[in-house]
Amino acid sequence: MPSRPDEPTADDTSNVWAVVVAAGSGARYGSPKQFELLGGTPVVDRSVSACRAVAAGVVLVLPADRLAERHGADVVVAGGPTRSASVRAGLAAVPEVAEIVVVHDAARPLAGPELFRAVVDAVAGDGADAAVCALTVSDTLKRVDGDERVVETVDRHGLVAVQTPQGFRASVLRQAHLNGDEATDDAGLVEALGATVVVVPGDPRNVKLTTPADLGYAEHLLGG
Ligand code: CTP
Ligand code: MG
Repeated sequence: MPSRPDEPTADDTSNVWAVVVAAGSGARYGSPKQFELLGGTPVVDRSVSACRAVAAGVVLVLPADRLAERHGADVVVAGGPTRSASVRAGLAAVPEVAEIVVVHDAARPLAGPELFRAVVDAVAGDGADAAVCALTVSDTLKRVDGDERVVETVDRHGLVAVQTPQGFRASVLRQAHLNGDEATDDAGLVEALGATVVVVPGDPRNVKLTTPADLGYAEHLLGG
């Protein structure tokens, strides 16, 4: 569908803002992984910088004791106890003029500009309420009872693994966060509204740092 003349596209980023969430404690990593160095640059700085492919402004959500830091962002705010609460804190600082908001995990420092452009284009140009980048699932999936007994093998047809960045019509994202619900990603809250969420191709290099081994892998990808 052609974009309407009054709608922003990825070439017109003046109405696009980004929220980078970096207020987690990194429990599985053992420390706040978003402040580790990757190729000599802090992970969070890379994630903020990546947003500039589409965003006129970046709101960075940080732990409350690090608000003197900037990491290349335009606005810095304190996060909350959950990821959703941190996104809400960031969203509250996004100017009302923003028509599209991109949400990105600081823990994904290798997201390339094409991912940001793809999620913004899907919203700006193609009219979706939200767009997420995702990969098809190649492993066999099983549902497990407790930690060990297999209950069933899940049909992976139609299943995808979702990454960030995720792009949203700003009004829809604000509405999705109004009642303070929790979800592992923002698209989940938007889906609950019955809004249209589309998928664009993700990137296998867009790894999320979860454990220390992931940082080594990211270093390897950066060098390769
Ligand atoms: N995040 C946040 N505020 C929280 C929790 C998470 O801003 N209260 C951010 C993290 O900093 C990260 C992203 O959300 O960039 C994805 O979360 P995750 O990878 O789970 O990071 P952590 O929550 O820090 O890690 P863990 O779950 O192992 O504690
Ligand atoms: Mg977490």
